[in-house]
Amino acid sequence: MPRITVNVDGTQYTDEVEPRLLLVQYLRERLGKVGTVVGCDTSNCGACTVHLDGHSVKSCSVLAVQADGHDVTTIEGLAQDGQLHPLQQAFHDNHALQCGFCTPGMIMQALDLLAEVPEPDDEQIRDGMEGNLCRCTGYQNIVRAVRDAAQRMQPGVGPAVEHTEDTPVPRTPADEQAKVTGGRQS
Ligand code: FES
Ligand code: FES
Repeated sequence: MPRITVNVDGTQYTDEVEPRLLLVQYLRERLGKVGTVVGCDTSNCGACTVHLDGHSVKSCSVLAVQADGHDVTTIEGLAQDGQLHPLQQAFHDNHALQCGFCTPGMIMQALDLLAEVPEPDDEQIRDGMEGNLCRCTGYQNIVRAVRDAAQRMQPGVGPAVEHTEDTPVPRTPADEQAKVTGGRQS
């Protein structure tokens, strides 16, 4: 079997893998990175989105061997020193998750979008996120969260900046239970 060496969320791993093993399977089943989830397995939903060398990819459409020698970042690599990434915080503050299943992929895709377009308007956000589906259909607040995160991530604005929206965001008890990482544990 091929041997691969991959840097995932800042840690280097070397493993022997089946040539047909998908990157998402490698992340979840070998490394235990279950924050990255599988929604469709057919490259349609975007739930499995991670970064490969800083750019978003659907990890169900990439083989683990293709990641050999590369850097992979998952949703689990975003928080630093116990502090949520501004995008994670913005999703929380803007009620941009319901069941949370799509959230890891949404956040990883939004991060790639904001790296390319630091101040996107709503249309650019919707275009940039079109490959990610939310079966709870919470798109309005997802767009809102990405816009909010863009402001928080402007140079000179630290990740701990408080949410400043004037309009209260409705919440439900289910939302309070959903983790910001959106990572399902199975
Ligand atoms: S699980 Fe990869 S795109 Fe849906
Ligand atoms: S799929 Fe449920 S919050 Fe997007």
